[in-house]
Amino acid sequence: MKILVTGGLGFIGSHTVVELQKEGYQVVIIDNLSNSSIEVLDGIVAITGIKPIFEQLDLKDKLKVQAFFKAHQDIEGVIHFAASKAVGESVKKPLMYYENNINTLVYVLQELEKLKVANFIFSSSCTVYGQAEKMPITESSPIQVAESPYGNTKQIGEEIIQDACKVNSNIQAISLRYFNPIGAHESIHIGELPKGVPQNLIPYITQTAIGLREELSVFGSDYPTPDGTCIRDYIHVVDLAKAHVAAVKQLIEKKNETNYQTFNLGTGIGSSVLEVIKSFERVSGQKLNYKMVDRREGDITSAYADTKKANATLGWKTELSLDDAMLSAWKWQQSLKAD
Ligand code: WQD
Repeated sequence: MKILVTGGLGFIGSHTVVELQKEGYQVVIIDNLSNSSIEVLDGIVAITGIKPIFEQLDLKDKLKVQAFFKAHQDIEGVIHFAASKAVGESVKKPLMYYENNINTLVYVLQELEKLKVANFIFSSSCTVYGQAEKMPITESSPIQVAESPYGNTKQIGEEIIQDACKVNSNIQAISLRYFNPIGAHESIHIGELPKGVPQNLIPYITQTAIGLREELSVFGSDYPTPDGTCIRDYIHVVDLAKAHVAAVKQLIEKKNETNYQTFNLGTGIGSSVLEVIKSFERVSGQKLNYKMVDRREGDITSAYADTKKANATLGWKTELSLDDAMLSAWKWQQSLKAD
C-alpha cells in the first residue's frame, strides 16, 4: 500500500516514514528541503534498508501538485506534515505562513477529491487550545483564538479539512494534535535538526550541554505551577510516529461512522521546565548551565493531554518516558558534534 508523506524529511515526518516502512507500507516522500536536508533520506535508509521514493517538490506550485498525483494514482493515504512551524517567525511573516501552510493544504485536498477513496492525516497541534481551562486537555476542549499566525494556520487547516469532508464522502480524515514532540530515533540516524538558534526547549538544552550555547534561559519562574516554571506534555517522537501508523490503519482498515476525527497525541503527563532539566542531568550525568529569566511573550502556563480517545480508538499509547526521550536527544546531539 502506497502512502504519501509530505514534509517526510522533517523531524516528525522522517520518524513516521521509518515506522510506516517497518509496517510494510510503501512510502513516497515530497519535501521542498526548505527546512530539512537530503541527508535525512540516508538516515531513513540506514535504519530500514528501504529507500522511499523521493520527489523534491514545493506544494505551493499547484500545477506540480496536480502532475504529481497524476503520476501516482495508486496513493491510498496521505500524511501531511509539510508546513512552516516556527511560532515567532509566523508573527513576523504571517502571509508567508498563510501561503505555505494553507494554499498547500488546499492543493493536496483538491487532488484527493478526485480519488475513489482518500485517507488523509493532518499534522495539527495542541496550540489550537491556547491556554485550556481544564487539565488534562481533551479533544472537546474549546478552540481558543490563536496566539500566532502559525497556530491560526492549524485551526484554519482543521476547518478546511472538515468542510472538505462534509462534501466528499470519499475523503476520510484525521487531525492529530501534537503536544511537544522531542527526542530522536534510538539508532541516532535521524533526529531534530533545528535551523539557527533553537526556539524549542530540548534542542536548546542539548546544544548548551555540548557547548554550542553559553547557557539555557528558563523563560519564567513565577508561573502558578508547583515549581514556578511552565508545564508541557513532552512526547517521544518515535511514539508520535507510531501514532501516525495507527491512524493510517484506523482509516484504511476500519469504516468509521464519521469521516473526520481529531486526536490529542501526548503522554498525558505534564512536566515542568525544571523537571525536564533534571531529567537531562539524570540521563546525561552532567550539570546543565541555566538561569531563570523573564517569561517569554505568548507562552501558556500549562498544557498536557487527555489521551483516552487516542488510546481507545487508535489502539495506541506512548511507551517511552521523558528520560528515554532526553537520553535519545542527548545522544543525537553528540552524534551531530561528531560529524
Ligand atoms: C517549551 C517550554 C518555554 C526554550 C512550541 C510551539 C508548538 C509546538 C511545540 C509545533 C516553554 C520553555 C523554551 C528556552 C525555555 N510546535 N523554554 N527556554 O512553546 O510549548 O510549543 O513547540 O507544533 O506549536 O508553540 O515549546 O519548546 O518552545 O517551549 O524556558 O530556551 O520551554 O517557555 O515553557 P512550546 P518550546
